Amino acid sequence: MIDDMPSVPSLQAVRLSRSFGQGETKSTVLHDVSLKLYSGQITLLMGPSGSGKSTLLAILSGLLHPDAGRVVALGQDLWSMSDRERERFRLRHCGFIFQGYNLFNALTARQQLEMVARWGEGASTGEARRRADEILMLLGMAKKAHLRPTELSGGEKQRVAIGRALIKDPNFCFADEPTSALDWKAGEQVVELLRSAAHDRGATVLIVAHDARIIEHVDRVIHMEDGQLIDHDDDYEPMLHKIKQEG
Ligand SMILES: Nc1ncnc2c1ncn2[C@@H]1O[C@H](COP(=O)(O)OP(=O)(O)OP(=O)(O)O)[C@@H](O)[C@H]1O
Ligand SMILES: [Mg+2]
Repeated sequence: MIDDMPSVPSLQAVRLSRSFGQGETKSTVLHDVSLKLYSGQITLLMGPSGSGKSTLLAILSGLLHPDAGRVVALGQDLWSMSDRERERFRLRHCGFIFQGYNLFNALTARQQLEMVARWGEGASTGEARRRADEILMLLGMAKKAHLRPTELSGGEKQRVAIGRALIKDPNFCFADEPTSALDWKAGEQVVELLRSAAHDRGATVLIVAHDARIIEHVDRVIHMEDGQLIDHDDDYEPMLHKIKQEG
């Protein structure tokens, strides 16, 4: 349970711009994007293919350098850190879920999660195993814990990828189309898990998705078109009662 939510954004993007290519082939993919995200909230980013959603996610999460603008995460300027500092920040505070799963073929589902707990956080072997099993259970993957990616369906791989992102209880969770490989029932469960990471554990969750059915499961929806946020309120502040829960 979260008793209070800071009105300071956990992540603030200020006038981000990014282009690809040079000269005649140069195309500007993000124009002057500003955005505030808050701890305890799950936000959905929607927009047409090619509008710049993945590019924005990559910049916000420290994976892709902006041409201009700043990203302030937990009070720290992400893009003025050294590469090493930024890497450490990401390891410690960020969980990622990519469309391509990015799982290691040689490792079982359980090992993919254990690895994060052990190397990311220095958990003991026993502790890593306990937490991996707990999360796999939550994800309905307990019986598949011993299987490798080639032995899992797309939806099952996606659940392992989500478990891997959530096992370190990250401050930030970025998910690019986490439900696109799933049927709606599995997709809804995935969104509920991400929502619980926000509401119950205070994570700042940002997901990119196309399915409008997700809208009712999130706190806030942001629309992007041609590299800009549409009808966007820069001064948005979350409603304080929103994440208060009984018990
Ligand atoms: N590394 C790159 N080099 C050149 N162009 C790129 C690169 N990455 C993205 N782009 C271009 O930037 C634009 C936005 O891409 P982006 O992946 O952010 O879109 P998107 O909104 O995530 O689309 P989708 O819904 O299809 O995933 C596209 O036109 C794409 O071709
Ligand atoms: Mg994309």
